[in-house]
Amino acid sequence: MWAWVNGEFVRRDQPGIRLEDRGLTFADGLFEVLRTVGGKVLFWDEHLARIRRSARFLGIAFPFTDQKLAAEALELIRRNDVTDGELYLELTRGADPYRQHKYPPSGTEPTLFMLSFPLRTIDAVNWERGATLLTYPDLRHRLCEHKTINLLANVLAKNYAYERGGYEALMCREDARGSYITEGGSSNYFCCRGGRLLTPEIDNIMPGITRAGVIDHARRAGIEVVERRLYLNEFLGADEAFLTSTVSKVMPIRAVDYTTFPAPGPVTRRLMDAFEELIHQELAR
Ligand code: PDD
Repeated sequence: MWAWVNGEFVRRDQPGIRLEDRGLTFADGLFEVLRTVGGKVLFWDEHLARIRRSARFLGIAFPFTDQKLAAEALELIRRNDVTDGELYLELTRGADPYRQHKYPPSGTEPTLFMLSFPLRTIDAVNWERGATLLTYPDLRHRLCEHKTINLLANVLAKNYAYERGGYEALMCREDARGSYITEGGSSNYFCCRGGRLLTPEIDNIMPGITRAGVIDHARRAGIEVVERRLYLNEFLGADEAFLTSTVSKVMPIRAVDYTTFPAPGPVTRRLMDAFEELIHQELAR
């Protein structure tokens, strides 16, 4: 397998990344996961805009133009012969020989690398009959609007769910009113109550590309979408619910802990079809 590191194609077992890279020592970096279909990359502009926005926020230079990087991404997919799969892109603040918290001297090159993977295996039953979720406390920091590579709390949450036969964790925070939902270990959440879609507002959660696509489509189709703090008891009392992510697309939710939902519900079904159509249009561009 090949990897792409800072402008070079390298064998995946001989990466050109230094052990002092701040991505390894401080999780000082960002990532994106993109879906590849038929040798094309979906929603490239949206993913690049998100990582560039966060790189600016963190003061990490983004060393390539989108066009150059897009061409390299396609070449990586071609070399690895992974037409349908996932493209992983990671940007870090680069190698710092002294492992000091202080930002490295100006002129330190950031590290940017891409990997391509075959699509992770997801049992189709999750789309057909809905996914099972387990609630878990949101143990994360205050930088969750940025796709940072600091994913330990997400890993703990997801593995808590996996070990109990679940597909995803539904992470929750607390305020004076009670427990409110944030997002999954790697997905965003929606529920439908009385024909209206409700989803947590972007308040220290990931502004998902799939989430944005679904909201945009729903509004254009005349479905009211409300983005606000969403309490767990409201979510559990919903008519139907679903999650969204690059790899899960729109996936119905069958159960959260001991509460069950009809899955897929009619609105979810409609949005699942609409999202497939959006992918279709994207591939035809
Ligand atoms: N995860 N929330 C979190 C915490 C995520 O990590 C992700 C994506 C999402 C959904 O965002 P998008 O629709 O842009 O994929 C929400 C990727 C898929 C991953 O870590 O594999």
